Amino acid sequence: MIRTHNCGELTLKNISQTVILQGWVKKIRKLGSLTFIDIRDQYGITQLNISESFLNGKNIKTEFVIQVEGKIIERKSKNLKISTGEIEVEVTKLQIINESEVTPFMIEDDITALEDTRMKYRYLDLRRSEIQNKLLLRSKMNWTIRNFFVKQNFIEIETPVLGKSTPEGARDFLVPSRVNKHEFYALPQSPQLYKQLLMVAGFDRYFQIAKCFRDEDLRIDRQPEFTQLDMEMSFANASDVQNEIENLMVEIFENTLNKKIATPFLKMTYKDAIDKYGSDKPDLRFGYEIKTFNEFNLTTQIELFLNVLNKQNVIRGIIIDKLLSKTEIEKLTETAKQNKANWLTFIKYDNDLWSGPIASKIADQEKQQLKKRFLEFKSNQFTVLFVGDEFTKASMILGAIRNTLGTILNIKAANEFKFLWVIDFPLFEWSDEEEKFVAAHHPFTQPAEISIDTFDIDKANALAKAYDIVLNGFEIGGGSERINDKKIQERMFSAIGLTQDLIDKKFGWFVNAYKYGAPYHSGCALGLDRIAMLLTNANNIREIIAFPKNSSGIDMMMKAPSEVSEFQLKELHIKLDD
Ligand code: AMO
Repeated sequence: MIRTHNCGELTLKNISQTVILQGWVKKIRKLGSLTFIDIRDQYGITQLNISESFLNGKNIKTEFVIQVEGKIIERKSKNLKISTGEIEVEVTKLQIINESEVTPFMIEDDITALEDTRMKYRYLDLRRSEIQNKLLLRSKMNWTIRNFFVKQNFIEIETPVLGKSTPEGARDFLVPSRVNKHEFYALPQSPQLYKQLLMVAGFDRYFQIAKCFRDEDLRIDRQPEFTQLDMEMSFANASDVQNEIENLMVEIFENTLNKKIATPFLKMTYKDAIDKYGSDKPDLRFGYEIKTFNEFNLTTQIELFLNVLNKQNVIRGIIIDKLLSKTEIEKLTETAKQNKANWLTFIKYDNDLWSGPIASKIADQEKQQLKKRFLEFKSNQFTVLFVGDEFTKASMILGAIRNTLGTILNIKAANEFKFLWVIDFPLFEWSDEEEKFVAAHHPFTQPAEISIDTFDIDKANALAKAYDIVLNGFEIGGGSERINDKKIQERMFSAIGLTQDLIDKKFGWFVNAYKYGAPYHSGCALGLDRIAMLLTNANNIREIIAFPKNSSGIDMMMKAPSEVSEFQLKELHIKLDD
């Protein structure tokens, strides 16, 4: 290498040394006969001090790539915010390596350019230190994962990306086969089936940092292609897997944020999570649990409430130890609407004065009962939000409201990390779209002991040996104990409505494997994009992916997906309709 140092390492210790630096021109300032340039590379920024004679008429502009040689001198006006801020290079040679056109946006951290523009020129966006630091942290996370699992005797095995389309969970991305006319591969939604077969094959502990693909609607924490840390262990149960994952999280936090996190993580059943937080991924950085307000069963004459109670549904709500403003209540009402609430109402209590749309209609006896509930808080001012519906629906609506509340009250501390295992998930969930029960996790999940005899009869109440790991309101991973009994697997497939013919065609190869001696085994997969997003406090998952898709699944830089030629389609035996 020609350069003697990078742009982030020179300090007062290097005074008087002659150095060669290479990098991009970040900023240019002229002061009399002197030109000051900030030169930038991945490691930092160094100030260059260039006199007219050494500039030699060169017309340097921002984002030019240059090479300079010069002596390190102490700076007159220091910038203690950056590591090189006490020195500058007194340049004696300057060479332009490459010129740059005016960039479509300024390459700086507090950027105002539209996201689509940034994504179109992602290679320029990626020059910003803010994003480079995020990817650096992500790299440290991957390094930690590999190091951790190798220490624990896991082996890394790669599994195919071109596989078979199987009816499990999300929609598949399909890849037409040229050689096998009219047939398609599917990109893996996860390496689930392969890792189970690796256990059947006798690999004791497997891990992989795997690309996964799911054709689903995108959200702030979802991309069509994403990365999982996938792992599986033979002769292991849920708690063996959870211990490994907790220890891994400890190392990731230590190596990336230098932060100690306490284990074991809290465990909560799915039922409790829905009851208290209206979500299977509750954010535990703040309280505001959801409660049932049975007191309104007494004498209330509020029509909204009566309609709910007459249908044997419930009034649920959240007590907030503050008076919410009109704007805050409007924002919460918007969330309620987005979550298909029939209504959201509230009552306010301010030092014994009641107000709000239903205040005058609530009987004194009920007000007294409500007041007793305030005793758990140290306040004289309250707002109580109410929703009435079927239990789970009311809870979920309030779960979403609770989440918005956390945001508008600014109580989601950025540097606090609250982990949680959600356990005892339902085995099935009802799909309105398919009008049948589908596997809640995936159809290879072992039913809980209490459900083993009845899971295919009483699907609504069947429980699974499945667990999710949740961090600050995001599901960062999930796993389960697996079915290793061929008969249970077949019962499971038929419980989700697969005919014997379909089972044979789609999963015959998989079920077969379990005929030849399979250990019991369990595993887990972590969503690495989501974890990186939380570690870096990024606003959305796109910020921590080098080349992400936008919210419509488009790569704005390459313009993918895109049309292909008639010739390519013909080779694949595909005809497009209009
Ligand atoms: P699951 O479907 O729960 O389990 O996925 C595991 C984790 O992957 C992350 N994830 C995503 N991240 C970004 N974009 C997406 N579209 C996306 N979808 C999922 C989440 C999720 O918790 N094979 C099983 C694991 C197992 O049972 O071992 C599986 O894939 O963080």
